[in-house]
Amino acid sequence: MKVLIIGSGGREHAIAWHLLKSPRVSQVFVAPGNGGTATHEGLSNLNIQAPEELADFASREGIGMTVVGPEAPLAAGVVDAFKARGLAIFGPTKASAQLESSKDFAKQFLVRHQIPTAAYATFEDPQAAHAYIDQQGAPIVVKADGLAAGKGVVVAMTLDEAHTAVDAMLGDGALGQAGARVVIEEFLTGEEASFIVMADGQNILPLASSQDHKRLLDGDQGPNTGGMGAYSPAPIVSPVIHDRIMREVIQPTIEGMASDGLPYSGFLYAGVMIGDGDDATRPIKVLEFNCRMGDPETQPIFLRLRSDLLDALEAATQGRLNEITLDWDPRTALGVVMASANYPDTPRTGDAITNLPQNTDTCVVFHAGTTLDGQTLRTSGGRVLCVTALADTVEEAREDAYAIVDQIQFEGAQFRRDIAWRALKS
Ligand code: AMP
Ligand code: GLY
Repeated sequence: MKVLIIGSGGREHAIAWHLLKSPRVSQVFVAPGNGGTATHEGLSNLNIQAPEELADFASREGIGMTVVGPEAPLAAGVVDAFKARGLAIFGPTKASAQLESSKDFAKQFLVRHQIPTAAYATFEDPQAAHAYIDQQGAPIVVKADGLAAGKGVVVAMTLDEAHTAVDAMLGDGALGQAGARVVIEEFLTGEEASFIVMADGQNILPLASSQDHKRLLDGDQGPNTGGMGAYSPAPIVSPVIHDRIMREVIQPTIEGMASDGLPYSGFLYAGVMIGDGDDATRPIKVLEFNCRMGDPETQPIFLRLRSDLLDALEAATQGRLNEITLDWDPRTALGVVMASANYPDTPRTGDAITNLPQNTDTCVVFHAGTTLDGQTLRTSGGRVLCVTALADTVEEAREDAYAIVDQIQFEGAQFRRDIAWRALKS
């Protein structure tokens, strides 16, 4: 079977890399892909992005399965375009993808279905938003309603920061239409985890747990980013917490979407905040939904996946996910993101990347913001590489990943030194 992956990041490289393992996969296209997918044996880049053109390609080329990596094509209706032509594609429709593309939609949904989340209010009028912030006090969280490529959330520790965020979004239109409406929500404390499942409208298949590192700098300092590293499994997701997230968050979400007339098929990522206390009673609240796999969470998660991903994708698009079980490598996988100079503000591009190692079964360098310039690999975006290693313990996975990180060279590389610190704290 020929398969198509839509997207250009490390997540898409990891999905494509895994599908190459399937004995039933003959060819993997990545649209548009990156410098890593361009040079990876068995992968072919495809320079098209418009939903209708992708559907044209899929039908002309006889693509048997398409997987959508990022949120933008989902929100643009790529799944609707493929389904209208009877093409197999895994991802939610544009209407269902509102769980990610509108924070207000997600919050209304959560409240309507009594799924725990932070208290909130939604505003379009800056005066009303300022008044609400003064009434609630700080810390408080201001979120652009629409998709803002990871720049839409301001965790304001002071009233000043919160007011400034409202002025930027509602007043100055800093985020364009995405910020023309804001959700202002209660500040939550605890430990975050990424809980990702596959869903087929009705059945749910959980993937391995993971934990991201959103801040740029060690010790969770500095600005928010798309994610600077991740590992799997996440010890915070104990068997009790796992069952509670399934029962309190994921099942009511899939049931709620179906009963709202928007059956959800695709990867569903719940970012949850797990409060303090005993596992049986500590609060678990939804921070956000993403209608896709996480990046960089996908890279360590898929390094651990032993089952054939194509079997699961096919079952999911055919509504028989209940027939699938996934086999996970019990070891720990850990991915360190190497980002370019000036990320996340204005990432510098064009730096040559050298000293990349050969991939092995237990260490893979997934590419994101890279491009091939003749024979030279260059940086072309904020997050450049995700160096991912699999080992018996968290410590060893971390050592293996950083040994490779220290070897790879490009000017101005930024990375954290403390990925998985929560798993290692005693
Ligand atoms: P989101 O895109 O909604 O996940 O927000 C990005 C990051 O902001 C999250 O991963 C959290 O670290 C933080 N965040 C979002 N909402 C809250 C909240 N209500 N309380 C505390 N931190 C939050
Ligand atoms: N790593 C966070 C995300 O994919 O949204």
